[in-house]
Amino acid sequence: MKTALITGISGQDGSYLTELLLAKGYVVHGIVRRSSMIGNTSRLDAVYQDPHDSGRRLFLHHGDVTDAGLLVNLIRDIRPDEVYNLAAQSHVRVSFDLPDYTANVTALGAIRLLEAVRASGIDTRIYQASTSEMFGTAAPPQHETTVFHPRSPYGVSKLFAHWATVNYRESYGMFAVNGIAFNHESPRRGETFVTRKITRAVARIAAGLEKRVYLGNLDAVRDWGYAPEYAEAMWLMLQHGEPVDYVIATGRAATVRDFADAAFSHAGLDWRDHVEHDDRYERPAEVPELVGDPAKIEREIGWKARVYWDELARIMVDADRNALRSGT
Ligand code: NAP
Ligand code: GDD
Repeated sequence: MKTALITGISGQDGSYLTELLLAKGYVVHGIVRRSSMIGNTSRLDAVYQDPHDSGRRLFLHHGDVTDAGLLVNLIRDIRPDEVYNLAAQSHVRVSFDLPDYTANVTALGAIRLLEAVRASGIDTRIYQASTSEMFGTAAPPQHETTVFHPRSPYGVSKLFAHWATVNYRESYGMFAVNGIAFNHESPRRGETFVTRKITRAVARIAAGLEKRVYLGNLDAVRDWGYAPEYAEAMWLMLQHGEPVDYVIATGRAATVRDFADAAFSHAGLDWRDHVEHDDRYERPAEVPELVGDPAKIEREIGWKARVYWDELARIMVDADRNALRSGT
């Protein structure tokens, strides 16, 4: 039975990865931030196991990737076979307001974890959640050797974490890999990312609860995939014979406007009647066009996206409408 440690277990990806690993028979440990409310683990409700259950395989530990001692202690005690570093201040727009904090969590958090693994001396495999945001203004399609040009404190922080992972691999021979994931979404996506903001608004507008949604740049192009499939890619990368970095993407992209059109149309609405512009959702520097080239991961690992952005919009609208109807 393998053991995994997941930072960021309460996030969108952490919850899907937990389900995947539990289904594969893993013992899963996750780090969750202490909160004054218990709601920050709600994405894990379906797999939560009571501490008193005998034979449970999911263990949650209070912690934070800004606490180096905690990481050292947990890794020494758990001795995981696999470590997935998904913790981050992951919102690009917010990173312009919180640059120092974002760097502390998203950049330094990664090197703290790498160093904790190195200090423990255990033989473990590490997945670092790298991002297409590091490509910034680089021309699409972006692939593993495209030159990075990040455009936000978040992107700069992730670039640090990315190269730290490469450096620990090269310096110490660690099995540490970067998954350079393009945008991936789901009904569990945070409500302030653009896809979920749109699909939630569609549900509320269709139900007569709201009339409009305010957005920023509608011209941005993104390669949106389906988050559960990206959790599968993360796991596959750690089962591979060699530690190799991969782009994880669908290879197909659309504008924010296209996504809004698909989402509103699915509920029988016209996006032009409901979308308004608000400057506050613009960024000081924008990433105009992200379209990944997934050829390498398809060829070497056999992972391939199955859900593309238009079907994703429909999945998310249906989920938000159902949730509204059932009051969940
Ligand atoms: P998410 O939903 O925002 O989840 C982030 C997770 O990190 C949450 O569990 C959050 O805890 C946790 N976290 C934040 N600060 C922390 C800290 N100081 N210490 C410990 N945990 C902390 O992000 P996601 O969409 O699942 O993405 C997972 C990872 O992949 C992130 O690193 C993200 O930057 C990266 N990524 C995401 C995408 C994408 O399109 N989704 C693409 C490329 C890369 P709380 O629940 O308490 O906030
Ligand atoms: N969030 C948001 N809100 N974005 C908007 C809005 C709005 O009201 N209006 C337009 N946008 C545009 C943004 O300017 C951006 O170009 C695009 O929609 C996508 O924004 P987000 O959904 O916030 O995602 P992101 O691409 O900035 O970042 C996500 O993907 C990265 C991978 O490329 C996050 O998940 C990052 O953590 C991830 O690394």
